Amino acid sequence: MRRFMLALPVFGLVALTTAKKCSNITVPISISARNGVFNLSAPANNIEATNFVLNLAQAGQNYSATLLSGYQTVSGDYNISTTLCHPDSGPSSILQVLTHGIAFDRGYWDFSYNGYNYSYVNQAVDKYGYSTFSWDRLGVGESSHGEPINEIQVWLEVAALSSLTGLLRNGSLPGAGQKYEKLIHVGHSFGSIQSYTLAVINPSISDGLILTGFSQNGSFISDFLYAGGLIEANTLSSLQEFPTGYLASSDVSSAQRNFFSPGDFDPDILSVAYSTGQPVTPGELLTIGGLSGVPSEFAGPVLVITGERDIPFCGGNCLATGDPGLASIPMSSKQFLNASSNFEAYIVPGAGHGLNLEYSHVTTYSQIFDFLGKNGLAAD
Ligand SMILES: *[C@@H]1O[C@H](CO)[C@@H](O)[C@H](O)[C@H]1NC(C)=O
Ligand SMILES: *[C@@H]1O[C@H](CO)[C@@H](O)[C@H](O)[C@H]1NC(C)=O
Ligand SMILES: *[C@@H]1O[C@H](CO)[C@@H](O)[C@H](O)[C@H]1NC(C)=O
Ligand SMILES: *[C@@H]1O[C@H](CO)[C@@H](O)[C@H](O)[C@H]1NC(C)=O
Ligand SMILES: *[C@@H]1O[C@H](CO)[C@@H](O)[C@H](O)[C@H]1NC(C)=O
Ligand SMILES: *[C@@H]1O[C@H](CO)[C@@H](O)[C@H](O)[C@H]1NC(C)=O
Ligand SMILES: *[C@@H]1O[C@H](CO)[C@@H](O)[C@H](O)[C@H]1NC(C)=O
Ligand SMILES: *[C@@H]1O[C@H](CO)[C@@H](O)[C@H](O)[C@H]1NC(C)=O
Repeated sequence: MRRFMLALPVFGLVALTTAKKCSNITVPISISARNGVFNLSAPANNIEATNFVLNLAQAGQNYSATLLSGYQTVSGDYNISTTLCHPDSGPSSILQVLTHGIAFDRGYWDFSYNGYNYSYVNQAVDKYGYSTFSWDRLGVGESSHGEPINEIQVWLEVAALSSLTGLLRNGSLPGAGQKYEKLIHVGHSFGSIQSYTLAVINPSISDGLILTGFSQNGSFISDFLYAGGLIEANTLSSLQEFPTGYLASSDVSSAQRNFFSPGDFDPDILSVAYSTGQPVTPGELLTIGGLSGVPSEFAGPVLVITGERDIPFCGGNCLATGDPGLASIPMSSKQFLNASSNFEAYIVPGAGHGLNLEYSHVTTYSQIFDFLGKNGLAAD
């Protein structure tokens, strides 16, 4: 028998300002994954944290391979904090499964700043009629935390996403109470890597992939690492509860460099994004690519949508391919997804990596919902 815990469903007060009906659900899962075993102690202070970044980002080296001493099966019981939202009129037959990226939690999708003006969930649910399911990735936010080198890695997190998707597919997620006809996986950044990886492992698990802030060019991860200004997360007052070894950006300008493009953001939203920022583990950074270097047999529609000035996936310029035959760096994903019923790459003009929090979110969202609509995935 599955145990479950339900937070109060949102009726009443919240319904005065927004029509969507959301509930927070803590989902217990039992998962296992084949994780890497890295010969590394958790960075114990800011000097060790910085040494780790300098080693990992160094040109001409593969530090991950240097540390890898083998693989092991990691199994465990974890609690995943999730939010399920439905339109006012009731659950949709199409559910979007939203996986956030590094430095955020599930709040990335439903950002309350400026009266939820930036909220992807508000658009998806209230304007377009989808149900949405967002989760704090394993290790992050209100989900279970874990050991930061050999436990919290991309492989275990993809196992968590797979388990949650299975529960949603077969209608047995506690509190979700129904089966959905279709599931669309929407990711941002590391969440896109996990959504892509999930569909490489099990191509029939999803009906559509929306990969935001993404490409399959791994050349620019060092830019992201150097820009991030990573220090011990638990030296920051907002992240004191995290185990030693978890890393987070030291200052607001680090968040700006990695997520916000010049001229495309409200300075106040930058402050909010930084002050609510979440950490990352060295284990995640050592395994960050997941299976994004592997071609996918996924047969449904795929949209890759990335800001023109994205740092981690384009080095600050998605149009600088150096190849007149290649329109953009994200367009090179097409060769990895040759079974897709419809592959498109869209570059959001002037946007940075943190798409949902920039002024250009209006363009980003309309592109996503147009794409879903024209690929038979409109909610009605
Ligand atoms: C759900 O959890 C989020 C994150 O902790 C919180 O901001 C929000 O108020 C919660 N909503 C409800 C209905 O409890
Ligand atoms: C682990 O790293 C230490 C120090 O870098 C090294 O002395 C040791 O040989 C390594 N162990 C393995 C199994 O690679
Ligand atoms: C680095 O090494 C890891 C572990 O062997 C491997 O999975 C990864 O593909 C390598 N990365 C590059 C860029 O070669
Ligand atoms: C999950 O949360 C419940 C309720 O807080 C707690 O009793 C249980 O020990 C937690 N499980 C794990 C694996 O953390
Ligand atoms: C539903 O999915 C979960 C997770 O994949 C699985 O453990 C469970 O057995 C499934 N239940 C049914 C009725 O298929
Ligand atoms: C990544 O993009 C750069 C710049 O466009 C290009 O030179 C490089 O060949 C690409 N690498 C891969 C693996 O596609
Ligand atoms: C699709 O890609 C796979 C793997 O790269 C390759 O084996 C296959 O021949 C390709 N199919 C088509 C139709 O191009
Ligand atoms: C919401 O954001 C858009 C895009 O930045 C802007 O045009 C609009 O004025 C904002 N609306 C409110 C109510 O702030």
